[in-house]
Amino acid sequence: MRIARVVFLMIWVMIMTNGIEAQQDRTKVLVLFYSDSGGTYELAKEVAKGIEKNGQAIAVIKQTAVSAHPLLKDIPVASADELSAYDGIAFGSPVYFGNISTGMSAFLSKTVDIWQRHALEGIPATVFMSAGSGAGRELAIQGFWNSLAVHGMIIVPSGIRGYEHIDKTTPQGNTVLGTTSLASLKNVARPSESERYLAQLQGEAIAKVASAMKGTFVKAEKTLPVAKADHKNMLKDLGIILPEVPAPAGNYQPFVRSGNLIFINQVALQDGKIVHPGKIGADIDENQARQATEVTMLNVLAVLNKAVDGDLKKVVRCVQLTGIFNTKEGYSKHADLMNIASDLTVKVFGERGKHARGTLGASSLPVNSAVEIQAIFEVE
Ligand SMILES: Cc1cc2nc3c(=O)[nH]c(=O)nc-3n(C[C@H](O)[C@H](O)[C@H](O)COP(=O)(O)O)c2cc1C
Repeated sequence: MRIARVVFLMIWVMIMTNGIEAQQDRTKVLVLFYSDSGGTYELAKEVAKGIEKNGQAIAVIKQTAVSAHPLLKDIPVASADELSAYDGIAFGSPVYFGNISTGMSAFLSKTVDIWQRHALEGIPATVFMSAGSGAGRELAIQGFWNSLAVHGMIIVPSGIRGYEHIDKTTPQGNTVLGTTSLASLKNVARPSESERYLAQLQGEAIAKVASAMKGTFVKAEKTLPVAKADHKNMLKDLGIILPEVPAPAGNYQPFVRSGNLIFINQVALQDGKIVHPGKIGADIDENQARQATEVTMLNVLAVLNKAVDGDLKKVVRCVQLTGIFNTKEGYSKHADLMNIASDLTVKVFGERGKHARGTLGASSLPVNSAVEIQAIFEVE
């Protein structure tokens, strides 16, 4: 009986191990989109379905920036640094004046570092876009392709695949470069069934090429100086990308060092704008407050990184974090929100990240931020 149990256990472990290995071995394709009103996201979901259709690949849907749109607010945000971890990328964006949207452009402008490392060379990429009337949509995809070409990516076009099967009684967003949706033509729901079908075929195509090319491209991260690579890799491995240090909005310094202590105060500024401004529980919900807290803590870490000249290994410990939240009367979940900042600090610094903490609510905060975080770190 005992032997039978041991044999059963061994078989079970083998099955589980093989399952996990098979999962790890599958092609991983990122579906990375920017969307203002959700149209591009609808296409992204269809592309993801196509990627996973034949069971050979996994699709990971992420967006380029935090969005307040109800459809998009829970979708994870990709960092530029993680792009090279995938075997293929399907990029999605709205068409803006016959070009890439500003949101996607802003994200691509953060890829200078990975471009210098040749990190995307040889990785397959495809582009889909949500358009209004469709004016300039092929120009927009071609414009997008230019950026991917500079990265040395392998571009996968749609060709005329699926054309025989689409509804030709109404205009469709098919192009030989990639799928689009004609969102402002409302005689059918958009993306139309045909556009969704084409997006799925495009997903199948990128999955096929990504699977064939998987592992054939060399990631040239070795070219980085060793000290810089160590630090960057540490954050990269954790999936964390630090923002630019926000410029002071008054007569103060981003940080002050006194002896071995660094003092920092930050609010939820991202790219010069406050993320999810207003009062928690009145103007913004719990989830938005969590995102604002994360943005604020990332700002703190960016300032700290500057204070130690880019070498976070010089941080001896996080001494104290104080979270101040702009809340409506009677609000009581400050500690839950502040855990976002505390968890992030422990994620980066491990034991050295454990700290004393204070949290409080306020009736208003500067620049209408929902969060302010005050931090004290001890450094070498
Ligand atoms: C600034 C701006 C410029 C636009 N330019 C174009 C354009 O040149 N051609 C077009 O077909 N649609 C254009 N549109 C419409 C968007 O591409 C369309 O609304 C798209 O579906 C939005 O995608 P989303 O729902 O993912 O935000 C433009 C929209 C904006 C806001």
